[in-house]
Amino acid sequence: MFELDGKVALVTGAGQGVGVGIATVLATQGAAIAVNDIDADRAANTVAAIVAAGGSAIAVPFDVTDYDAVVAGVATARAALGPVDIMVPNAGIPTAGMPQLPFVETSPELWRRLIDLNLYGVLHCAHAALPSMCERGWGRVIVISSEAGRLGLDINVALYGAGKAGAVGLLRHVAMEVAPLGVTMNALSLGLMNNVSSDWATAVARTVPRRRLGSPTDVGAAVAFLASDAADWITAQVLPVNGGSHA
Ligand SMILES: NC(=O)c1ccc[n+]([C@@H]2O[C@H](COP(=O)([O-])OP(=O)(O)OC[C@H]3O[C@@H](n4cnc5c(N)ncnc54)[C@H](O)[C@@H]3O)[C@@H](O)[C@H]2O)c1
Repeated sequence: MFELDGKVALVTGAGQGVGVGIATVLATQGAAIAVNDIDADRAANTVAAIVAAGGSAIAVPFDVTDYDAVVAGVATARAALGPVDIMVPNAGIPTAGMPQLPFVETSPELWRRLIDLNLYGVLHCAHAALPSMCERGWGRVIVISSEAGRLGLDINVALYGAGKAGAVGLLRHVAMEVAPLGVTMNALSLGLMNNVSSDWATAVARTVPRRRLGSPTDVGAAVAFLASDAADWITAQVLPVNGGSHA
């Protein structure tokens, strides 16, 4: 079930962490993968792993905050693999790491950086991929969001949460426009993942009803479902993937 043979997926920020899990699971389900990351070496590593496992993948390094670069990356993927059927805007953590500061101590430069990555990054990817999906009558946009975009959390990430919530607002509206054309748009709202390691993360894991943090493969499995024909009647939704927290 959830076969993706013949489909082409572009996953952003897939050079490490959650994006690797998404790209790997989609490749296992039969999709050819355009692996994006701002760091070309990381993207190449993910491509090598997918190809070594018998899958099909190419690297399309670009910065998702640069609209022209996103358009060029989607064109590169199309030329090498075919038109993008499944767009997964996943990049959302700045390369320098996630700043955690009380809102009153944040600067306009930080606001812009987090909104650029988490709202404009998604906007750029959706805008670049949707016309071809709509023209061909089939497509999937699956945004990797966060519980920080769905809930108020006491962890000093207000601007990150604002960017995530903004992207969900965007997709709910655009999903209405493209649904009649065979394209669905959904988001996954992730709880804390196991690529965050600290005493705090260990303590959070104990509070998760499932008693563990999420893995990149957990997210990949949910993306594969939403990407498949089986999820054709699911659109404009936000699915919490969080081990049962905040139910
Ligand atoms: N890790 C968590 O606990 C967690 C929790 C909730 C949501 N999320 C979301 O999951 C997604 C992936 O997070 P992660 O933990 O795997 O992050 P990560 O930092 O491990 O990896 C992110 C990758 O994105 C790349 N990247 C950064 N900026 C980019 C840009 N402008 N253009 C292209 N690539 C860029 C980085 O080089 C990196 O390889 C993000 O959207 C994040 O907000 C993560």
